[in-house]
Amino acid sequence: MVLVLIVLFIYNGNGDSMNFKYVSKEIDDTLTIAENVESEKFENMVICLDGELGSGKTVFVKGFAKALGIEDNITSPTFNIIKEYQNGELPLYHMDVYRLDDVKEDIGITDYFNKGGVTIIEWSELIKDELPDERLEINFKIVDENTRLLIFKPFGKVYEELCESVL
Ligand SMILES: Nc1ncnc2c1ncn2[C@@H]1O[C@H](COP(=O)(O)OP(=O)(O)O)[C@@H](O)[C@H]1O
Ligand SMILES: [Mg+2]
Repeated sequence: MVLVLIVLFIYNGNGDSMNFKYVSKEIDDTLTIAENVESEKFENMVICLDGELGSGKTVFVKGFAKALGIEDNITSPTFNIIKEYQNGELPLYHMDVYRLDDVKEDIGITDYFNKGGVTIIEWSELIKDELPDERLEINFKIVDENTRLLIFKPFGKVYEELCESVL
């Protein structure tokens, strides 16, 4: 029994196993949760967004960018891979790596992780090997027309604490 508890304790202490669920019932819920995450921002924050087309990844980035004070209209940078916004409280590097395979040159994605801004990556699962050890992953699932299930998975203490405070 004691052994089981110890094993459970160690298992729970491992950030990889921790996740937090949030049900977004309308687009505004997704914008609001993004604003809440933004309120915990710090330099070199990395947020990885995954989930099928139309699941709300770009909506999340719009909410985050607006909270940062960025007034530009945020659209998915599918064809340019990276869009950089310098007019908010912190620089925002918005990536969509869906079509990365089409890009011949090395665009130095990992260089962005320590440039002092916030990096948000749509379709991060396609560049898994390049992601930093410490990051926040959010998986988006379409439940029905207006409902999305967001599963937050923090990697590293800072992101675990962030999830505990915003969810
Ligand atoms: N709860 C919700 N949260 C986010 N988007 C929603 C929600 N309900 C409906 N939608 C719609 O789903 C679409 C999500 O689009 P988008 O964010 O571009 O998806 P992705 O970037 O994942 O491909 C938008 O048309 C949005 O209006
Ligand atoms: Mg998108």
